[in-house]
Amino acid sequence: MKSTSVKELLSGKHLLQEVTVNGWVKTFRSKRFIALNDGSTLNNLQCVVDFEELDENLLKQIATGAALKITGTLVESQGRGQSVEIQTKDIYVHGTADPETYPIQPKKHSLEFLREKAHLRIRTNTFAAVMRVRSALSFAIHQYFRQNDFNYFHAPIITGSDAEGAGEMFRVTTLDQKNPPLTEEGDVNHKEDFFGKETNLTVSGQLEAEAYAMALGKVYTFGPTFRAENSNTSRHLAEFWMIEPEVAFNDLDANMDLAEDFIKDVINYVLTNCSEDLEFLEKRLLDEEKSKPQAERSEMPLIEKLKFVAENNFKRVSYTEAIDILRNSKPNKKKKFKYPIDAWGADLQSEHERYLVEKHFKCPVILFDYPADIKAFYMRLNEDGKTVRAMDILFPGIGEIVGGSQREERLDVLLEKIAALGIDEKELWWYLDLRKFGSAVHSGFGLGFERLVLFATGMGNIRDVIPFPRTPQNAEF
Ligand code: 4AD
Ligand code: MG
Repeated sequence: MKSTSVKELLSGKHLLQEVTVNGWVKTFRSKRFIALNDGSTLNNLQCVVDFEELDENLLKQIATGAALKITGTLVESQGRGQSVEIQTKDIYVHGTADPETYPIQPKKHSLEFLREKAHLRIRTNTFAAVMRVRSALSFAIHQYFRQNDFNYFHAPIITGSDAEGAGEMFRVTTLDQKNPPLTEEGDVNHKEDFFGKETNLTVSGQLEAEAYAMALGKVYTFGPTFRAENSNTSRHLAEFWMIEPEVAFNDLDANMDLAEDFIKDVINYVLTNCSEDLEFLEKRLLDEEKSKPQAERSEMPLIEKLKFVAENNFKRVSYTEAIDILRNSKPNKKKKFKYPIDAWGADLQSEHERYLVEKHFKCPVILFDYPADIKAFYMRLNEDGKTVRAMDILFPGIGEIVGGSQREERLDVLLEKIAALGIDEKELWWYLDLRKFGSAVHSGFGLGFERLVLFATGMGNIRDVIPFPRTPQNAEF
């Protein structure tokens, strides 16, 4: 017999029909009530076992975590808490779960404990809800770009260029690690490596996306990116997913408009399509925050916060204005910042970003026109000769969620910049070609997908919104 999902059965469509459902036991009460879940929805399906005499052997096998196939009639529920339930006629045990060793028992587990069990943590309500929202968000992202006539472009994962120029890359090589071939100077000879040159895992698909934008007009990438930065924070991963739109003929203002419209659209999508999971995550967050001091609690419940972001304009502020605000701020004057702000040109730390968003403006903020010295080489130089057309979007509770810019489209200016930074022109030959043949104003940005999922789910640690996190000293699973 064909099986039906818990989600579909709970919708009540199959009332009084005989149905089959597969899933895992969440709880088994009074030797009579099985709460079954198959991941299709947050809610469990109650299966009532009313056998005259439940086979002792079968009874023993029904425990939290076991995989079952249940056949029975879907009826209106007698009890409270659910509208329908199954009157069980037959139970087939796909696989048992020994209560002595199965770690996901029906009680509260800490997120830290569950991180060690990342292969099983998806069986908790919290992780199942987070991962369903993550899946919905990625669908919404593709849908947004599709509806706005973007082409989905697959950037290479192995690359010879360092797009961000930060040098935080993972090397890709097939050379013998113990005994690599050497050049006459005694350096590792990458001419003998697989690709005949030094290659790394990409930190961003932007440079290649620019080539595609200069032909297809509007493109976006959505793929994994890798950074070997040794940041053990709740906002950094060594492997994370990034969405990078790139648009020919867009200037920085159009880029900011796109980023804001895009983020609002995908947040609206989950508000409409993930309400059960969001309501659950909102309750989870409220519970968690009860144990925190007042000052650390969020000001709005999760769903209200998402609506607030979807409905209000992001505040657009230049770097220079932001520095003035920070310089004159209370925490700066009282020396509360770990990195005090005294001069124009300082790089903003997450404490500063969060002050601007959470304390000063109390809404998402787009900072633009940063000092050239603290930003990547490809950003377009302003007429003042010292700032570039960069933009970062800062979110409450998250800090930077988007980094983007208008790109330098003038060959001479770009060449000067590259020379000043000591980057080898030859490595960027194809990127420079884009400035020689039909160059034009263009812009784009990168949205850190996990930071978006953090925001949308109200979770506090980026390790809890990606299936199998990669962080320093951790690549289990
Ligand atoms: O600001 P970033 O470094 O910008 C770029 O890579 C540009 N090439 C993007 C572009 O213009 N096409 O990174 C973009 C975003 C950040 O704002 C942040 O959300 C996320 O990527 N991000 C990380 N997320 C998780 N872990 C990390 N280690 C991250 N580093 C950046
Ligand atoms: Mg950035």
